[in-house]
Order: sequence, then structure tokens, then C-alpha cells
Amino acid sequence: MQAAIETHALTKRYGPRPVVRDLTFAVEPGEVYALIGPNGAGKTTVIRLVSGLAFPSSGTVLMLGHDPHETPTIRRRLGAVVEAPAAFYPYLTGRSNLLLHARLAGGVATSRVREVLDQVELGHAADRKVGVYSLGMRQRLGVAAALLTRPEVLILDEPASGMDPLSLHLVHRVLRDAASSGTAVLLSTHHLDEVVAYCSHVGILEEGVLIDEVDLRDRGARMRAMVDDVQNARLTLAAQPWVREVFVRGRDVVFTLDESAAIDRVGRCLAAAGVALRELGDDSFDLRSYYRERVEAQRARRTSVEGRPGAVAAVSVADAPTGADA
Ligand SMILES: Nc1ncnc2c1ncn2[C@@H]1O[C@H](COP(=O)(O)OP(=O)(O)OP(=O)(O)O)[C@@H](O)[C@H]1O
Ligand SMILES: [Mg+2]
Repeated sequence: MQAAIETHALTKRYGPRPVVRDLTFAVEPGEVYALIGPNGAGKTTVIRLVSGLAFPSSGTVLMLGHDPHETPTIRRRLGAVVEAPAAFYPYLTGRSNLLLHARLAGGVATSRVREVLDQVELGHAADRKVGVYSLGMRQRLGVAAALLTRPEVLILDEPASGMDPLSLHLVHRVLRDAASSGTAVLLSTHHLDEVVAYCSHVGILEEGVLIDEVDLRDRGARMRAMVDDVQNARLTLAAQPWVREVFVRGRDVVFTLDESAAIDRVGRCLAAAGVALRELGDDSFDLRSYYRERVEAQRARRTSVEGRPGAVAAVSVADAPTGADA
């Protein structure tokens, strides 16, 4: 499958200072990928680069297989909420603003305006002027505008900042629904609970470096095995017909066990491959703790690298701590 969004060795410098470093990642159709990271980590910059609003200093961005600068028309297949709050006329109603957006985009049925307003639960306020909307309402209108054309790619920078808890859930659920009909969604956020509940992937950025990516799908059916040799365990489990979606997360191998398979098969097949199983349990993933650990480990590592005379300041993904040495 062709990735909807793909970057390779993407780097952005402002002056001599790189704020995004050597970033390689991809978002497939149907995925909701959340970029998380401390303030100033580079999330908005990545989002601007990927949506074609900023030029890379080096490296490449492909959206639906095209460079958004070389093929600007590709942006017609993109829905974006990047420069928040989205540009709306304050003296027009929410509905009129969206009708205007729909007309500018072209090919959008009038009925779609009502549909997206209902999706973000603004139907009741559709005929009020945007000037009297609260911040959260304006943001929801921004999400509605991005959905109008049923875009193949949705890119949103903190779509839910400043929203009340119910609106937070609503917006993330709307994005996941868009993904379930094939849209690729990339967003940045600080709301980790929503990430775990609604996103399929999360990437952790720290000082412009993507220090980790986690696949969050199918969490309910997942198992987690702590082992002495994660790569051997990963290959061994991946070769079993009763195991699905095997990946390494830190010192653990995470996998989905077919319902028909007895749990003791895991220990037996790992033992046969010479892997020592230290712990086997349900995969109840605590993103908050995991995030804190990874960011702190990366900061410690960066400080020690930067402290060495003549050392290169950037810590690349390859240098980032793995489960074995974290
Ligand atoms: N136009 C610019 N000129 C110079 N530096 C910039 C520019 N835009 C961003 N930066 C710097 O790049 C770094 C990353 O900023 P960015 O806005 O991407 O971070 P962020 O992860 O989105 O942070 P936040 O969580 O606060 O939104 C920051 O140090 C910021 O000061
Ligand atoms: Mg930002």
C-alpha cells in the first residue's frame, strides 16, 4: 500500500539550528498518527512541512506520492487545520462560512455542510455568527471545514487545544471515524488519554528527533512478553500462525494472540528458540509513563553527548535509547 504521508530524512533549520532532524516516518490510509512531545519539540514544524506550508532544509516529504511543493494540486486532496484558529468570517454564520469553503473547494454537495456540522455537534449553533462562537466552537468548525471534501489526508495541529473534555473526545472520535473510511490522519496533541483511546500510532518527538513510535492498535487483545532477547522473540513469535501483529516496544515484545491459542504455547515456543521469558501479561500500556521515560532518557542522553568536547549535538533515532539500554 502506498503511504498517504511519507517523509525521509526530513530536516528543518532556522538559521544554523535544526528544529526537525532527520525525520523518517509514514502514515498509511486508515491510520490516525499522533505526534506528541514537549513544547518546542518540533510538532507544528513537522505538520507545516508535511502540509507544504514550509520548505524542508533537506530530506523529502511525499503526500499521496507527490511532493506538495512540486505538485501543489495534491493539496486539494488534503484537509488541514494548521494555522489555528482557522480563517472564518466573524460576521457570517458557521453554516455560511462552511458553504463558502465548500464553494471554494468545488464539488461539495450542500448537504455535506449540514453533515459535517452535525458530526462536530455544531448543528444547534450553525446559524449563529462565528464572531460569537467560543474558542472550542471555532476549533470544531475548523475540523468540520477540513472534513468537507472527504479528504484522503487530514492534517491537524492541536485540533483540540482548549476544548472541554466532551469536545475533546468528540473531535478525536470524528477523526477516527474519518480514518475508518480510509482517510490518513496526522495530528499533534498533548492529550495522551485521547491518543491511547483513538489513535492507531503515536510518534514521540523530542528536540526535533523522532525518538520512538508505538503501534496502538487492537490493544484489548494484546499480550506483552518481557524477554531477554527481544529480536529473537519477535522473529519466533512472528513465525507462529496463531500470533498476529508482533512488534518490539522497549524491552517487551507485544503481540496479539489468536483466541484459539492457549497462552502456554507462548512460553513453550520461546523456550524452544532459547529465549528466556521473564514476564507475560496483558498489554495495558501506560502512554503517560512511557512518554515520560522516553523523553527523560533522550534528554539525559543528549546532555551527555552535548557535554562531550567536539561531540555532535543532534542525537539521531539510531542513537536513541533502545529497550536494551534504556
Ligand atoms: N519561523 C520560525 N523561526 C525560528 N524558529 C522557529 C520558527 N518556527 C518554529 N521555530 C522554533 O522551532 C522549534 C519547534 O517549534 P514548534 O512550534 O514546531 O514546536 P511544537 O512541538 O509545535 O511546540 P508546542 O507544543 O509548544 O506547540 C521551537 O524552538 C521554535 O522556537
Ligand atoms: Mg505546536
